[in-house]
Amino acid sequence: MKTLPDILTEKFSAAFEKAGYAADYGKCVVSNRPDLCEFQCNGSMAAAKAYKKAPIAIANEVVAALGDDGTLGKVEAVSPGFINIILSEKTLNSYLNEMAMSEKNGYEPKNVGKTAVIDYGGANVAKPLHVGHLRPAIIGESVKRILSFDGYKTIGDAHLGDWGTPIGLIFTEMQVRNPSLVYFDENYKGEYPEECPVTLKELEEIYPFASAKSKEDEEYRAKARQAVFELQNGRRGYRALWEKIMDISKQDLKKNYGSLNVSFELWYGESDADPYIMPMIEDMKKQGIARISEGALVVDVKEDSDNKEMPPCMLLKSDGAVGYDSTDLATIVQRMKDFSPNKIIYVVDKRQGLHFEQVFRTVRKAGIVGDDTELIFLGNGTMNGKDGKPFKTRDGGVLRLEALVKDVRDHVAEKMADRELSDEEKADISKKVGLAALKYGDLSNAATKDYIFDIDKFTSFEGNTGPYILYTMVRIKSILEKYSGVAGTDVKTIIEQASNGELKLSDIEGNDSEKKLKLQIAMFADSIMQASSELAPHKVCAYLFELSNFFNSFYHENKIVTEENEDRRKGFIALICLTLRLLEQGIDLLGIEAPEKM
Ligand code: ARG
Repeated sequence: MKTLPDILTEKFSAAFEKAGYAADYGKCVVSNRPDLCEFQCNGSMAAAKAYKKAPIAIANEVVAALGDDGTLGKVEAVSPGFINIILSEKTLNSYLNEMAMSEKNGYEPKNVGKTAVIDYGGANVAKPLHVGHLRPAIIGESVKRILSFDGYKTIGDAHLGDWGTPIGLIFTEMQVRNPSLVYFDENYKGEYPEECPVTLKELEEIYPFASAKSKEDEEYRAKARQAVFELQNGRRGYRALWEKIMDISKQDLKKNYGSLNVSFELWYGESDADPYIMPMIEDMKKQGIARISEGALVVDVKEDSDNKEMPPCMLLKSDGAVGYDSTDLATIVQRMKDFSPNKIIYVVDKRQGLHFEQVFRTVRKAGIVGDDTELIFLGNGTMNGKDGKPFKTRDGGVLRLEALVKDVRDHVAEKMADRELSDEEKADISKKVGLAALKYGDLSNAATKDYIFDIDKFTSFEGNTGPYILYTMVRIKSILEKYSGVAGTDVKTIIEQASNGELKLSDIEGNDSEKKLKLQIAMFADSIMQASSELAPHKVCAYLFELSNFFNSFYHENKIVTEENEDRRKGFIALICLTLRLLEQGIDLLGIEAPEKM
């Protein structure tokens, strides 16, 4: 389906042409003065310059050329040369009826046949997920859902940090504590035990302990580095131990990401890029773009137009080790080979911006990525506490994601305590509403901005919050329940009828709140298109918030179930079913679920 501005643009382009002007002046947009009109065409202003004529004269000619085919409503040329458009209710209704019957609520995917890889995990193995991983996870998941709605084949990659210093530290500490473990015996030739020699709980204690120790003990630090080096070079016992730790760690990460309603198609780690590193480096050497600098191997990426520091990209450190730069470079080699994506999107803390700039320039320079592939760094801002600093626990520690999710859930549960609902219902509501509060609180802010985590605000049922959107949905469902009682048809059937054309909007003119709700519904495709092209889940939030507001005013200003005129009553039901469908679609794009009751 075309969008309303597109339909209008077609009509106006034809009118401009008919009046003797170039068709591309006919672009129509949603009005920025909703008090005056719903849509506007400002092309006469630009045409005036090109044709050296008064804009109002052109606008008048275009309105005349447009004629009145009865579909538009009120079209008016106003000085100095704008054309204001108010759509007829009938046109709007038939547009909405068509939306209700179409598969994606009238949205036409723009990117069918294209592929996007989205990198939004970045959790580090053997370290629990903490709040720093929250934003990439929920923004990335939403971006993935939006792109997939827009036709992309999407591949989400967890890109776990599974290969670096932390694992070396863990090995070193394990060996101190338990030197006789077979994994550390270089002469051991047998099979390794099935069971992982440490539990997750132990790992969580070992890592911070080893990390603190390494800061004071140079020898210990060197041992850890050596362990990483040997692991990467295939030492058998280390590989076996590493695999065991990876197994239990991944299981836990899957559970944790799952509790956020976040999933990945690929559970690759940095280690999966390893086989690509050396051939890639050889190739860069051959091309003559790699050079030795103070013992390290680097690629220069500075450009004349840079006005900030742009250090070279590091292929090999002076001790021959590979690091974060080469891992990300080689991961791109791998992704290009496996998926030839049109886009690779990184949702990572914005403080890593320089790293990605270096990496992107290097892969372009080396010809690893051509013009058909866009590389996008969607750097996210931080979630801050009320003091404006990155969110911490009360004692200043790093807050685990699990604890945060539980806090929000408990907060919602408290609010639900005196509701007349079963314990099961209450648990389901707290889980879904809590997660919605957390995710919406995050997603409603532009990804690049920092925001303040405010549990009271996020869990409020009023205002621009997740619970408010869910509450609106539950309200619509309860109206449908009531109507179902009156009509003697079950809710499921009513919803079906609203999407197969049996229930249609009524052409009887309604009040202002009804028209506003309809217009907002009609803007669905535009909002999604913007959210997709700008990778901006906050645009979906803004759309849903306004839709909920318009719905709630409509609800307060109209009797729905008790409306006496049958045609009108049915029209209202069709309208609220469509509203519900868009809200459902919208929250799904955000990775949020709604409870049945609230
Ligand atoms: N593991 C990294 C960290 O904790 C984040 C990885 C982000 N993704 C990437 N492709 N570099 O900082």
